[in-house]
Amino acid sequence: MKLTLKTLVSSVCVVLIVSCSGAGKGPSAEHGEKLFNDPEFAGSLNASSCASCHPGGKGLEEAAGNLKLDDLINRCITGPLEGKALDKESFDFRSLKMYIESLAKL
Ligand code: HEC
Repeated sequence: MKLTLKTLVSSVCVVLIVSCSGAGKGPSAEHGEKLFNDPEFAGSLNASSCASCHPGGKGLEEAAGNLKLDDLINRCITGPLEGKALDKESFDFRSLKMYIESLAKL
């Protein structure tokens, strides 16, 4: 009985930890699209979002094939967006990149 309760409690803990940390929810193009349209993304202090200059991702259809895509993204973040460059391994950066890659016309 004791063992069963212990097992139950620890599995509840595991579930809580997993759901709170968002584990299992990887970066996604959907999340990236939200960031793309969010004027406060990356600590941006001005009212612009990526979509202000690239509405609906327009003009970025070719960007996915660009070997310097990571740098281009961060350049637009620190430049026009006046935000902070993102860690390229971060959830937000990878999501944003997935969104941009999803714009590519096959
Ligand atoms: C103030 C306007 C402005 C904002 C805001 C802006 N960009 Fe840009 N972006 C440009 C301009 C201008 C270029 C260079 C010309 C071009 O390729 O369209 C560019 C180029 C790019 C490119 C390279 C395109 C290519 O094919 O070479 C990417 C990728 C990009 N932007 C992503 C973003 C992302 C992501 C954001 C938001 C974090 C953003 N931009 C915000 C103006 C802006």
